[in-house]
Parts: sequence; structure tokens; C-alpha cells
Amino acid sequence: MIKLYKKFTDEELTARGLSREGLPRHVGLIMDGNGRWAKKRLMPRPAGHRAGMEAMKAAVRFSHSVGIEALTVYAFSTENWKRPQTEVSALFDLLAEYFYRDIDELDANNVRMTVLGDLSALSPKMRELLQRAVERTKDNTGLRFNVAINYGGRAEIVHAVRTLVESGAKPEYVTEDAISERLYTCGQPDPDVIIRTAGEQRLSNFLLWQAAYSEFVFTPVLFPDFDDAEYTNCIKEYMGRTRRFGKVL
Ligand code: FPP
Repeated sequence: MIKLYKKFTDEELTARGLSREGLPRHVGLIMDGNGRWAKKRLMPRPAGHRAGMEAMKAAVRFSHSVGIEALTVYAFSTENWKRPQTEVSALFDLLAEYFYRDIDELDANNVRMTVLGDLSALSPKMRELLQRAVERTKDNTGLRFNVAINYGGRAEIVHAVRTLVESGAKPEYVTEDAISERLYTCGQPDPDVIIRTAGEQRLSNFLLWQAAYSEFVFTPVLFPDFDDAEYTNCIKEYMGRTRRFGKVL
């Protein structure tokens, strides 16, 4: 059964302490704490990742309901290959399951999928599955859902500069705009807020370039427990911040 996501009215937003004008356009989400969640329950780590996947689906639905334009989640970093082989496989199995099973629902809800990262290291089957989801949803106009897979912020910047150099650009053409246009997030607004769960307070190579003026919200909640109420709290915390972008207000 395909679930159709709800869109909140202004009154429904107000009832949650949110207002349409103050909402972030783009939210970055570092989904941390799956392992600790599983450990607390004496469960294997992949069970924590599965619970995390359910929390991620809820975050997608809630982003749509609230009216956020773009959500970027950190699903697998370039450093995550250093985890035990069994855990890496379990993560890719989950990713494959998600992209296979949920694509109909995402498409029906007008979600446009993008994958951020170097896909050349993935198996051809995995690559094809991801590319099919991106291709199928490319004309959708609703929530932009970016999934970072084999993603590293430094590698992304190197990739962008390399592409620019390969095009024969003279030094004066190496500008901030020219680099931004060659990042995986090309054409999307920078994240207004980056939320990290599980109490860690670092960026871990996520959206390094794009985070130049992002607000950071940290919550101690482990990712599998990150529900609509906690997401709302994080958005409210963001809405309470004064963004100056280097200016005096
Ligand atoms: C960090 O928790 C989480 C990850 C490395 C993977 C995030 C993946 C998911 C939420 C599920 C799968 C996603 C998709 C797109 C299907 P951790 O393992 O580092 O937790 P710990 O710090 O408590 O050990």
C-alpha cells in the first residue's frame, strides 16, 4: 500500500510551534547513534541501522509535510568502508532494499531523489539501482531528497576542482560559483541547518563547502529515536537563531 504524505496547513504548522516564513529551505541530517541504540537493546548493530532506516523514512515524510524544499541525509561516508565487512554489507543491503521497495512511494509523493557521492566504487548492480531511482524521479517537483553515499566533503571539492581544471579553465575562472556548480548539490540552496543526532558535535566531512553559513543543531537523541517531535524541536531551535551571514544586523 502506497502511503500519500500529508501537507500541513499554516494552522497545523502553528499548532506545532512552527511558521512557514521561518522554515529552513534545506536541512542536512547526520544520522548518528544507530550502533548505540542497538547495543542498549543487546541487538546486533545492523538492527540499529534498520531502525535508523525507519526513522529516516519518517524524516522524509515529515520534511514533505512541513514544506521543506530539500533534505540531505548522510547514509554512508567515504570513511565508513573501515567498518567490519559484515556491517558494510548490511548497510548496502539496507540501501538496496530502500531504493528498491520505497521508490514507488517516493515517486507517488513527487519526491525527487539525488545521490551525492562517488558511485564508481559501488557494485554495478547498486549503481544501476540508484541511477534508476534518480532518473525515474528527475522531473518531480516536490521534496528534493539527497542521499549521500560514499560521500566525503573534501573528496567532493577535489572532484569539483579537478573537473574545472580538466575543462581547461584559466585561474580567473576558478571562482566560488564555478566550484559550487560542480558539486553534487549543484543548483540546490545550501543547507540552512545541519542536524546531528546522538550527541556528537562535529561535521565528519559532511557538506563541507555547503555548510559555510549553516546553523548546527545537536540533539542527544539516538537516530532510531529521532521522531517527528524531535525533528520539530530541532527546527524550532533553528528558527530561534539569528543568522547574520557575516554582517552586523
Ligand atoms: C551512524 O550510526 C549511522 C550510519 C553510519 C549509517 C546511517 C544509515 C542509516 C540511518 C540507515 C540506512 C540508510 C538508508 C538510506 C537506507 P553509527 O553506526 O555510527 O552509530 P554509533 O555511533 O552509535 O555506533
